[in-house]
Amino acid sequence: MQRRNLIAGIALAATATLALAGCAGGSGGSDGAADNEFDLVEAGTLTICSDIPFAPFEFEGGDNGTGYTGFDIDLLDAVAKKLDLKLAVQDVGFEALQSGTTLASGTCDVGASAMTITEEREKNIDFSDPYYESLQSLLVRTDSGITSIDDLEGKNVGVQQGTTGEAYANENATGAEIVQYPSDGELWPAMQSGLIDAILQDQPVNLEHEKADKAYKIVEEYETGESYGFAFAKGEKDALLEAVNGALKELQDSGDYQTIYDNYFTAK
Ligand code: ARG
Repeated sequence: MQRRNLIAGIALAATATLALAGCAGGSGGSDGAADNEFDLVEAGTLTICSDIPFAPFEFEGGDNGTGYTGFDIDLLDAVAKKLDLKLAVQDVGFEALQSGTTLASGTCDVGASAMTITEEREKNIDFSDPYYESLQSLLVRTDSGITSIDDLEGKNVGVQQGTTGEAYANENATGAEIVQYPSDGELWPAMQSGLIDAILQDQPVNLEHEKADKAYKIVEEYETGESYGFAFAKGEKDALLEAVNGALKELQDSGDYQTIYDNYFTAK
């Protein structure tokens, strides 16, 4: 963190020099244009990439003008307002988002996809400060007789490709057939149509399914110590990353973070 602050400071100092030299688009950092100090893909707009649906973090609906809502989206909408930016959302695949490819290609400014901060991902992605702590979980049919991860021998266990849930299943679901799906948008229908016997993924998302349909329940939760972070192209968005961290801190201090949190996670 200390080092990041330093780098951001250097990038800001370099801005004036670059602008004077008429040399926009240096290797990363701000381009020096007064109206695009964060080097945004579209000036004046915070463009975010997200793999949707992944309720309650990102799903269709809401009234913020993007067509999408959820904890991640509402939180970044509040961040964008603090930075005087509009919000735009692009629905992208998770696999390429978590690998850093989508961010490196300049499709968007921020990845907001309930993405767990991992050492592996940090090789290719810069993360914001953590904004949510999560667990893994196992969802099954209530009448399946499956009560734990040890009952999955010979069963089909659905996971979302490229996720920490997939990694957890690969390591711990001994004897199970791990079936990859591109997103929860395919996982959940596969479960409902009986193609898979279980879903191993982030607990808040499985909890949405449990609440939506009494025929399914979470039988186990796993404390994997995961924290979500907003994702940025590695080394490219230092000024924006610092500004997002600053806005997150302000939202936490003001209680606005808690209001958004309660909207999605407090038992109703
Ligand atoms: N937290 C998990 C991970 O980082 C799953 C995230 C999936 N997010 C999504 N929007 N599909 O691997």
